Amino acid sequence: MVESLSEAAAEVRQNAHAPYSNFKVGAALRAASGKIYVGCNVENVAYPQGTCAEAGAIAAMVAAGETELVKVHVIADAPMPVTPCGGCRQKLAEFGRGVTPVTMSTTRGESMTMTLDELLPGAFNTAHIEPKG
Ligand code: THU
Repeated sequence: MVESLSEAAAEVRQNAHAPYSNFKVGAALRAASGKIYVGCNVENVAYPQGTCAEAGAIAAMVAAGETELVKVHVIADAPMPVTPCGGCRQKLAEFGRGVTPVTMSTTRGESMTMTLDELLPGAFNTAHIEPKG
C-alpha cells in the first residue's frame, strides 16, 4: 500500500490521460483525516475540457466526504518543478490554509515546496463576500 504523498503522486501520474500535451501530471493530497486522495490530468480532444491533476485529486477528496487538505504533492516529468496553474491554486485554496505546503517535484529528482499563501498571494476568499439579505 502506498503511504507517502510523493509515492502516491508518482503512481497516479502513470494513469494520466495526456495524449495531446504528452505531459503527464500526478497529484496527491493528504486530507485532515490522514487519508490520501489522488488525481491525474485527464485531457480531451476538445482541449478546454481537459482537467488538471490537482482538480482530480480535490474532486476525489470531496466525493469521499472530506473538505480539508493539509498537504499537497504534485509531480511531472519536467526540467523544473511544475507549479499548479492559476485555477488550481484557487481550487487548492478553497480547501487548504495559507500555511498549507505544496511540494512540487520532478521525476528527475528535483523538488520545491511553497505554501498556498506564497502560490496565491491576495487570494479571493470568503472575506471578500458581503453577507446578503
Ligand atoms: N497540468 C496539470 O495537471 N497540473 C499542473 O499543475 C500543470 C498542468 C496539466 C494540464 C494539461 O493536461 C497538461 O498538464 C499540460 O498543460
